[in-house]
Amino acid sequence: MSETNLIELKGVSKIYSIDTLETHALRNINLKIKKGEFVSIAGASGCGKSTLLSIIGLLDVASSGQYFLAGHDVSSLDRDERARLRNKEIGFVFQSFNLISDLTVYENIELPLTYRTDLTDKQIKDIVLQSLETVDMSSRKNHFPSQLSGGQQQRVAVARAIGGKPSMILADEPCGNLDSKNAESVMRLLEKLHEEGTTICMVTHDPKSAKRADRYVELFDGQIVLDQFIAANTLASQAITL
Ligand SMILES: Nc1ncnc2c1ncn2[C@@H]1O[C@H](COP(=O)(O)OP(=O)(O)O)[C@@H](O)[C@H]1O
Ligand SMILES: [Mg+2]
Repeated sequence: MSETNLIELKGVSKIYSIDTLETHALRNINLKIKKGEFVSIAGASGCGKSTLLSIIGLLDVASSGQYFLAGHDVSSLDRDERARLRNKEIGFVFQSFNLISDLTVYENIELPLTYRTDLTDKQIKDIVLQSLETVDMSSRKNHFPSQLSGGQQQRVAVARAIGGKPSMILADEPCGNLDSKNAESVMRLLEKLHEEGTTICMVTHDPKSAKRADRYVELFDGQIVLDQFIAANTLASQAITL
């Protein structure tokens, strides 16, 4: 396979079995994402978006099929190997922020970095301070999540996601709980990270946000039904033809 594919899923399916009920959350997904791409993932509730993101993010494993991450087959890694790779290579941003309530902003960003054996205390401190600056939250580093607005909490979550300089950011409805102003600031942050070369997969319900990516993937009932590149001038050309 080509080295430029950061992510390659081949025939990935996911079946959840609870009691006698089987849910086919993903069916035969074939997806290649190049390093540096910004991909939006859309589709109705329950179509498998979060399941796809959790498999790409090594939070869960496929029931069948293969997953190559940067050319390496990661389908059969054990839990610990997955966790180590995840902590180093993948940053997550969730709709509900998922900050730890009894840790300060600083400590929330610091926590995943403390599991890294390749970073010194000084390096960790520098990364935390730099990440806080990137999301414009330096002045709140000693605040607790409950003392922040939703938009501020999401910016902290972005800082936590980017701290370890991951190869990819996976964002599951990152603006879903935000008002339009805060949503815009989080979208701008994601765009900035993309410009700096980070690969981004973003699940979104919002067509306007989806169009800000390079590529649009739509799921229906666990299958990819649309996969198209978005021309940089989509909005401009629409405006001309109106
Ligand atoms: N942990 C789980 N156990 C059982 N079923 C699940 C689990 N997670 C998701 N599902 C089911 O898999 C399908 C896809 O869910 P999900 O990936 O969360 O969809 P989306 O994010 O698009 O709303 C749904 O039918 C959902 O009920
Ligand atoms: Mg979901």
